[in-house]
Amino acid sequence: MFGLGRDELSGRVLDCSAGAAGFVAQAAAGGCRALAADPAYVLTREQLAEAGRRDLDRGNAIAAEHPDSFEWDWYGVPARREALRKRALAQFLLDVEGNPSRYVAAQLPQLPFRDGVFDLVICSHLLFTWADVLGQSWHLAAVRELARVGREVRVFPTIMQGAGDVVPFWDDLMAQLAGERLRAELRRVDYRFQVGADQMLMVTSG
Ligand SMILES: C[S@@+](CC[C@H](N)C(=O)[O-])C[C@H]1O[C@@H](n2cnc3c(N)ncnc32)[C@H](O)[C@@H]1O
Repeated sequence: MFGLGRDELSGRVLDCSAGAAGFVAQAAAGGCRALAADPAYVLTREQLAEAGRRDLDRGNAIAAEHPDSFEWDWYGVPARREALRKRALAQFLLDVEGNPSRYVAAQLPQLPFRDGVFDLVICSHLLFTWADVLGQSWHLAAVRELARVGREVRVFPTIMQGAGDVVPFWDDLMAQLAGERLRAELRRVDYRFQVGADQMLMVTSG
């Protein structure tokens, strides 16, 4: 989703709105100084496990009910996606228990981190995904906040959930970011699942 390689993982990394993702556990195992933030981390491990399993089932059902909205070139078959998601959930739950300090309960658009403390901030399936619920001013505040704590921000995907509609306030938001000296550019990524979701937004200051 983020086109990450060794260079990107050599500094401090924040996965914001990480949910039950295995990224931080895996990155940390590889020596990366990674943290995750999500409001759901106020929940107990058992509640997180239950929510993670529920989300997995819901994700499977959505993909099955809307076959035209998803493509399988990257995952191969639904069973492989399910196996990867289950493995990620298991990694996450193990890490939450073993390294709870890596998982910070926090909610955009206000994060409890100092300015520029992360070299890279990644954020998937929150911004733009729910642009029908979270409006332009929320998105501006959220991107501003991500860019405050991180020197580089990567957001995936750049289209809305469901039919993959374009974000109605996209152009205005990009103009606002430019007005705040935030440099935003789209970059194609390898990951494929939701049809049309093949780019991330990169934001840097200056
Ligand atoms: C669809 S999940 C995505 C999880 C993960 N990034 C992924 O792609 O698998 C959306 C996540 O955003 C979190 N979330 C909801 N509102 C948020 C907010 N205001 N700030 C940060 N995270 C939020 C939810 O708790 C949930 O874990």
